[in-house]
Amino acid sequence: MSFPEHRPRRLRRTPAVRRLARETHLVPSQLVLPMFVREGITEPSPIGSMPGIVQHSMDSLRRAVAEAAEQRIGGVMLFGVPEVRDAVGSGADDPNGILNRATEAVVAEVGDALVVQTDLCLDEFTDHGHCGVLRQAQEPGSEVAVDNDATLERYTAMGLAQARAGSAMLGLSGMMDGQVGAVREALDAEGFTDTLILAYSAKYAGAFYGPFREAVDSQLKGDRRSYQLDPGNGREGVREALLDVEEGADVVMVKPALPYLDVLADVKASVDVPVWAYQVSGEYAMVEAAAAHGWIDRRGAIMESLLGIRRAGADAILTYWALEAARWLRAEL
Ligand code: PBG
Repeated sequence: MSFPEHRPRRLRRTPAVRRLARETHLVPSQLVLPMFVREGITEPSPIGSMPGIVQHSMDSLRRAVAEAAEQRIGGVMLFGVPEVRDAVGSGADDPNGILNRATEAVVAEVGDALVVQTDLCLDEFTDHGHCGVLRQAQEPGSEVAVDNDATLERYTAMGLAQARAGSAMLGLSGMMDGQVGAVREALDAEGFTDTLILAYSAKYAGAFYGPFREAVDSQLKGDRRSYQLDPGNGREGVREALLDVEEGADVVMVKPALPYLDVLADVKASVDVPVWAYQVSGEYAMVEAAAAHGWIDRRGAIMESLLGIRRAGADAILTYWALEAARWLRAEL
């Protein structure tokens, strides 16, 4: 007599065999911590919709990246919150702009230990909150239109400013067509041939960036649906990733993470560069809120979501829990 249906269970019967049979692993070097630095403050400022996350002052940012280096995570992704904004986001490529100054300081502090990355997008720096400059002639009643090619010129200037500030990897998150090729060409022409490009290739328009708006004090009214991807479109996300690889992206990314694991898996199967995922502010806030009510096991939900994102195909993950997760992972070894 035989009961073959019971056989697979042997591989999960004991802690030792579960450990040996696990297919997917998460290690601190696969985690990247997104960080916010705000111009003109001297103390860190809490972000209400992201409990535990702050807008840093320059000083607190220096201390926090030193801690990130101690935890030996993979890197940090910096976002700047400027005091003054305008229509073209002038603070973005100003060498004295908050993000570029912060990048210099962080590179000086931890540039050897961590991959220091910078968000390359205009939305934090524009007074309308869009990722690009807007078209002059706006038809009455029509959707807000970004001027793609005028924005590419702003992105190349911003990319050069970030490379000069010492950023090792530029995170192109604006979803303009041709942005990777344009920035790559500008970097190479100025001798920044080793500066890496992380392309936010499959970036979906949607509700999960809500808390981020507070984090960067966003001026946005309306939405980004005319340039970010439609949540219903998976194949289009793969196509965007393939185009970005062709244009010279070193790494491609899918964002948000949990609602788009299928896209992540498809992109992973389609490209030969590393594929990363961004577990965004709304994903963070959901777990924090539920945990604060005692409705979910916080640590369990965090680690399960990170492991699930890795399993779906992410080689590395941008997550606001990077430091805490790294501590837990080390303790489990
Ligand atoms: C663009 C950018 C955004 C996020 C990262 N880069 C905002 C957006 O596109 O609306 C969102 C990250 C998050 O929600 O955690 N600068």
